[in-house]
Amino acid sequence: MPKFFVTTPIYYVNDAPHIGHAYTTILADVLARFHRIAGDEVFFLTGLDEHGQKVKQAAQKRGLKPQAHCDDLAPRFLNLWQKLDIRFDDFIRTTEERHKKIVQLVLQKVHDAGDIYVDEYEGWYSVAEERFISQSEYTSGQFRDVKKLKEKNYFFKMGKYQQQLIDYLESHPDFIEPEHRKNEMLGFLRQPLSDLCISRPKARMDWGIEIPFDRDYVTYVWFDALVNYISVPGYGSDDAKFKKWWPAQVHLIGKDILTTHSIYWTTILFSLGLSLPKTIFAHGWWLIGQTKMSKSLGNVVNPLDLIDQYGADAVRYYLMREMVLGSDANFTLDSFNKCFNSDLANDFGNLLNRVSGLIAKNHGGRIPGAGLLTAVEEDIKKQANALPGKVKDLVNAFEVQEAVVAVIEFVRVLNKYMEAQAPWKLARTDMKAAERVLYTAAEGLRIASIMLAPVMPQKIATVLDILGAVGSKPVWGQLKAGTALKTHPPLFPRIELDDLKKSSV
Ligand code: ME8
Ligand code: MG
Repeated sequence: MPKFFVTTPIYYVNDAPHIGHAYTTILADVLARFHRIAGDEVFFLTGLDEHGQKVKQAAQKRGLKPQAHCDDLAPRFLNLWQKLDIRFDDFIRTTEERHKKIVQLVLQKVHDAGDIYVDEYEGWYSVAEERFISQSEYTSGQFRDVKKLKEKNYFFKMGKYQQQLIDYLESHPDFIEPEHRKNEMLGFLRQPLSDLCISRPKARMDWGIEIPFDRDYVTYVWFDALVNYISVPGYGSDDAKFKKWWPAQVHLIGKDILTTHSIYWTTILFSLGLSLPKTIFAHGWWLIGQTKMSKSLGNVVNPLDLIDQYGADAVRYYLMREMVLGSDANFTLDSFNKCFNSDLANDFGNLLNRVSGLIAKNHGGRIPGAGLLTAVEEDIKKQANALPGKVKDLVNAFEVQEAVVAVIEFVRVLNKYMEAQAPWKLARTDMKAAERVLYTAAEGLRIASIMLAPVMPQKIATVLDILGAVGSKPVWGQLKAGTALKTHPPLFPRIELDDLKKSSV
């Protein structure tokens, strides 16, 4: 059985999760669900990054010990994931013992391999970025909170792996996606790659995992966080499990953390002698009205507000439907409203209401027999049977937005077909034809619905229940004539603009 191991970044617990965190996690969940449907064995990993200066500072601001702060914030993430129907297979918090001991093992191994050395280093240190910055970064003036710092620290020989990494990138075109991100990394690697400072003296920053060969130091937060991708699937603790899952099929990340993944993480893996993940996929930013989301601008979108107003499935749908993977997307309530009304209320919801309404009214509430299909229906059947393969190919190419659009376009085809055939009229003149049309529309809707189930698990479960088709496969002909339809309220009632103006979102 093919396996699919997908990860999200582990998010900093410095604040409550926002729509950007929700996006990556939903995307991972959608991919995981598509792969489960395809019969793959899936391991979906997400979690929280609890060490380091950012978290420590956030805790200090609240007058809490770092661990207490993390324990307080972790449930907010878990609660949101539950509300959004995120079905992860494991959830790691980096303060857990199972993770800490593997980070120490990794540090020891890399040290034993001769890839860690100690050095006294003097340079510009960005407190905000939590790292030493280069002279040219310093002169760029882009860094706040910069000070001169002289310190003894441990360094990872990242530079040693520069050529190996360049060769790897050039010979594995789908390692970093989209392609322009790979080119960005290759461009970065044209400059000499310096070694990475991987320690922090406890005297300055003690909220981290102790370095096993020098107890006065903790490790740099990235050397800790990245290791989650192997500590959870059993590296150093469960060989069979690790052999089964590693390497991951995809690390999903935002473009903000491309360097840490494609350079720090890959060279750590080189040093450990482990394979690299198959793909690191960097998606773009959700912007708010064209600008970056930030706490200081006060434009942070809280997913809980959206869920309350629109429901979890509509939020999932909108985020998957609007962002072309790899590009930035603009979040506005106006576009949310338009997407909801057009795709969900008009196209999808209307088809279901019409089909079930007409079957109730003219066909005794039972799915009619298809009879003999004409050329028009044969064409719809062909499109329906082709849809799963089309969607699968798009999803495998990380074209999730295009996959959703392919389904909704097929729903539009069904609506046009209903319009053209007018089974409400046919019911008075040619009952057989009316039955054939409604069977065809219902069967098309069933197959389209199954293809949307990874995106809208709850609503689609309801649709399949209404159609009496729970557990059916996306192949033409599984809808059984004579099945009684369940009655239901509209699935996606239109949002009226007035409601929106009143809303607090
Ligand atoms: O970087 N649009 O955690 P983080 C889209 N702990 N995605 C967004 C986004 C936006 N506006 N804002 C955030 C860290 N994200 C580290 C990761 S991994 C070993 C350690 C998402 O809390 C996106 O996935 O800053 C981004 O990469 C991630 O949140 C950063 O989360
Ligand atoms: Mg960040």
